Amino acid sequence: MASELLDRIRLSGDVPEHVAIIMDGNGRWARARGLPRHRGHREGMKSVREVIEGCVEAGVRILTLFAFSTENWQRPPQEVSALMSLLQLYARKERAELRRQGVEVHVLGELDRVDPTTRRAVDTIVEGTRGGSELRLNLMISYGGREEILRSARELARCVVAGELALEDIDEDVFAATLFTAELPDPDLLIRTSGEHRLSNFLLWQLAYTELHVSSVLWPDFTREHLFEAVLDYQRRERRFGRVSAP
Ligand code: FPP
Repeated sequence: MASELLDRIRLSGDVPEHVAIIMDGNGRWARARGLPRHRGHREGMKSVREVIEGCVEAGVRILTLFAFSTENWQRPPQEVSALMSLLQLYARKERAELRRQGVEVHVLGELDRVDPTTRRAVDTIVEGTRGGSELRLNLMISYGGREEILRSARELARCVVAGELALEDIDEDVFAATLFTAELPDPDLLIRTSGEHRLSNFLLWQLAYTELHVSSVLWPDFTREHLFEAVLDYQRRERRFGRVSAP
């Protein structure tokens, strides 16, 4: 099944270079089974593994996962702490395998809000996977799109006030270079699971021309086959970037 889908992807044209995912539905997955919410998050780790392997197989070069939003800090303390413990576990358990697969992990977001133990754990996965050349994996942690834009605006304003930058020199490229995703191309494809049609403050600047794919599958049930279906859906789209079609 997965190999058939991969063959179709190879025949269908361009593979998206950069895929971003809003991994949603862990809580509902757990509730449907009478389990605590953290069990849904834990199960979600398997899907993270699935999509990483799927991206490597399909030839996607960059994968960006929304692992913890700035809004998620408002969840009950025991859920926040379960999510932080899961990140630590992920860093410990997956580091060697990610390295073997050639995955280079980057962690992006307001990391000064993250506790020192989790911070150290994510640092070890970043250091331990440096140089991986098959896939760049961005884990967005303590990330919010509006906060990111505000941070950039403040930084550029500071440069103008300090006389380091002229107002008229601020264009899209200069602005984009101050975002967490500075050196990366914008996502070609955004996948959101669990049937919700919302951006939830994710990559607000970067998603301007991204193709959206909403899957009704809850994140812990999401497999590489679902990823491949999303890529095939992307390949059927015509991307015009605000222009008209070619004649
Ligand atoms: C949304 O589901 C998911 C999250 C807030 C966390 C995502 C985290 C993981 C998938 C864990 C593993 C990830 C890594 C990178 C180690 P929800 O809780 O909002 O679900 P609900 O909408 O059904 O309540």
